[in-house]
Amino acid sequence: MKSQGFSQELLDGRPVIGICNTWSELTNCNRHMRELAEHVKRGVLMAGGFPLEFPVTSLGEPLMRPTTMMFRNLVSMDVEETIRGNPIDGVVLLAGCDKTTPAVLMGAASCAVPTILVSGGPMLNGRFRGRSLGSGTDMFKLDEEYRTGRISRSELDAAEAAMSRSAGSCMTMGTASTMASLGEAMGIGLPMNGSIPAVDSRRAVLAEASGKRAVELVRQNITISSILTRAAFENAVRVNGAIGGSTNAVVHLLALAGRLGVDFTLEDWDRLGRDVPTLVDLKPSGRFLMEEFFDAGGLPVVMKRIENLLNLDAPAVEGGTIGERIVEARCWNDEVIRTLSNPLTAQGGIMVLKGSLAPDGAIIKPSAASQHLMQHRGPAMVFENAEDMRARIDDPDLDVDADTILVLKNAGPRGYPGMPEVGTMSLPRKLLQQGITDLIRISDARMSGTAFGTVILHVSPEAAIGGPLALVRTGDMIIVDAAGRRLDLDVSAAEIERRRSAFVPPPPRYHRGYGRLFIDHVQQADKGVDFDFLVGGSGTPPSKVSF
Ligand code: FES
Ligand code: MG
Repeated sequence: MKSQGFSQELLDGRPVIGICNTWSELTNCNRHMRELAEHVKRGVLMAGGFPLEFPVTSLGEPLMRPTTMMFRNLVSMDVEETIRGNPIDGVVLLAGCDKTTPAVLMGAASCAVPTILVSGGPMLNGRFRGRSLGSGTDMFKLDEEYRTGRISRSELDAAEAAMSRSAGSCMTMGTASTMASLGEAMGIGLPMNGSIPAVDSRRAVLAEASGKRAVELVRQNITISSILTRAAFENAVRVNGAIGGSTNAVVHLLALAGRLGVDFTLEDWDRLGRDVPTLVDLKPSGRFLMEEFFDAGGLPVVMKRIENLLNLDAPAVEGGTIGERIVEARCWNDEVIRTLSNPLTAQGGIMVLKGSLAPDGAIIKPSAASQHLMQHRGPAMVFENAEDMRARIDDPDLDVDADTILVLKNAGPRGYPGMPEVGTMSLPRKLLQQGITDLIRISDARMSGTAFGTVILHVSPEAAIGGPLALVRTGDMIIVDAAGRRLDLDVSAAEIERRRSAFVPPPPRYHRGYGRLFIDHVQQADKGVDFDFLVGGSGTPPSKVSF
């Protein structure tokens, strides 16, 4: 360490704070994190600690193939073993783009060190020709306009540039903003962690305060498991409903709870989220973007409005409780953060559907869905995999109408593999041209946190391992009953059995390396898509043998 110019004084046994950095130029959303780390370091030094920054593998949504989700568990292992293998007493986690947040939290959770989360923050709002544009959400809309010839390629390109004009993560309430907000709600990140824009100097102040606090956490021996309790997970589910958060939070929180040994299940998502109103009027469910959310007062306001539903005595990383955090919260814009009497959606929580098509469950985000499709019986149009869907979806002869239910198979954890965000599918062009903008879609895939529509996701067990989804054929009737929490295939049991005995699983797409490890060990969506051998933690290591 002396070769790096650290003085003897820094090596006197003061708390060593690792700054776990997911910076990468391949992850545009996290590109400002080396600078952010400098602010964390200043805070660590102010409190008498010794900061040491280290890189871990980063995961950028826009570029990674086949899907970043395939690498979340890999990064969690990188984080876990780097913390455990080095003399690190506490850790500050710098994360932003979707999968980076759950990955670093899962890694830290498995080694039970004092931990604080610092999110990179959302990018500035997109602005284009007097319109406000949100990452992901408006790109999907513009893409539909382009595919139906309403805008040109150069207009699409210009809009894309206007939408991506600063450092930071997607500024819709997509997965990145959701996970940053839930980190705040669970008390592992400081107040306002979720919403301060990436380029706002107050983000740097939050980073400094977090570095300072990390040193105190070590001195007081407050570990991640004393913050992320069952009470914190319950709060997260309710806050997710209130913010209209991403469906991806479901698998990430299930996996995180598994690392911590917290008893938390898919059923908890439905039970605790039931009747939580969505108050935050942000895209993809609503109108505004993260800058407006920050200006309106951010998450403390949301939590104050639903305080009757929260465990206010849950601990907060700065000391004290979640309840103490929100005492003085005030709302500065009731349109952006709605009141309880004027919610965006009365039922905001994630719904968990079960039935003959999804024995272990499937999910739907009602705030992003069309009301008229929440009770529906319709014929299936089946796509065997994502390639089949892409090849045929715009075929003018595709036999679909407004009642059709699109079904996509083999896009689950093992089948794709990695459970990509293809569950939204793209709507058939011929229906878009008729002005139809939503259809029920069912798959074992995930969807982007910035996406919208009546989309039923995470069907478990998945098609590739012979779940009932694998047995659906085009023309079968499917019954969706969201209120009754049912998802059923209206085909006789005898016929299902006939099809099951003829089922042949698709061949695995990887035979070696990490892809093989993934296929061999990944659990289903209802268990959080973590590896079976990563569930739980190994604690902190025994001290190193000294010579
Ligand atoms: Fe990175 Fe959306 S693509 S946060
Ligand atoms: Mg996303």
